[in-house]
Amino acid sequence: MLDKRLQAVAALVRDGARIADIGTDHAYLPVELVRSGRCPSAIACDLREGPLATARRTVAEAGLSHAVDCRLGDGLRPLCSGEVDDIVIAGMGGETVAGILDACEWAKDPALRYIFQPMSRSEELRRYLLTNGYRIERETTVEQGGHWYVCMAAVWADAPIVTEESAYVIGGLDAVADREWLLWQRSMLQKRYNGMSQAGDAAECARLDPILKKLEELLV
Ligand SMILES: C[S@@+](CC[C@H](N)C(=O)[O-])C[C@H]1O[C@@H](n2cnc3c(N)ncnc32)[C@H](O)[C@@H]1O
Repeated sequence: MLDKRLQAVAALVRDGARIADIGTDHAYLPVELVRSGRCPSAIACDLREGPLATARRTVAEAGLSHAVDCRLGDGLRPLCSGEVDDIVIAGMGGETVAGILDACEWAKDPALRYIFQPMSRSEELRRYLLTNGYRIERETTVEQGGHWYVCMAAVWADAPIVTEESAYVIGGLDAVADREWLLWQRSMLQKRYNGMSQAGDAAECARLDPILKKLEELLV
């Protein structure tokens, strides 16, 4: 049984998709998706040998070694183009996720669906996705243990968009359904604004001001 955060990630995976889970660690997600019959196969990848050993153990204990392949390597490097349909990258910072996509020659493939769950800097991930031609199809938020997490599904659409800063922060989140996440984001940005104001950083205050105003409008 997945926790609420990983359930929210799993909900964005397409039924029947061959998946890759990048930064799999314990491999709970690929094992559950294959065990439940939602996915026929999975490739569980991790940069480090320790987490990959944990993944191999989870897979073996579930009796799924024939369907879940565990591979060591950085980002998308353990994969070949065309091997999977959906790629999950969960539990890493938004900038790390963007770096993983940027390092892969075949990442810009419209047949692929990406599911991201950035632990931080989600605005940097949105900025990378939108300015590099990816379209964010869906965003959801989920609470677990007092923390709010954002999940995204994206595809490459060959249509780069440069938009205003607030769009990178707010993305496709909804004022009602995702209110708690947006409130938390606003309080973080307000704290940063206050700190920058005290430090006399006018440029950062000028950058943050329209974002805070947009959040105010959205959350009335
Ligand atoms: C916090 S765990 C997340 C585990 C799981 N994806 C989740 O969301 O619960 C992050 C994992 O990503 C792995 N990792 C970090 N950078 C990576 C990279 N560039 N490529 C592959 N794995 C990476 C780490 O070794 C670690 O096991």
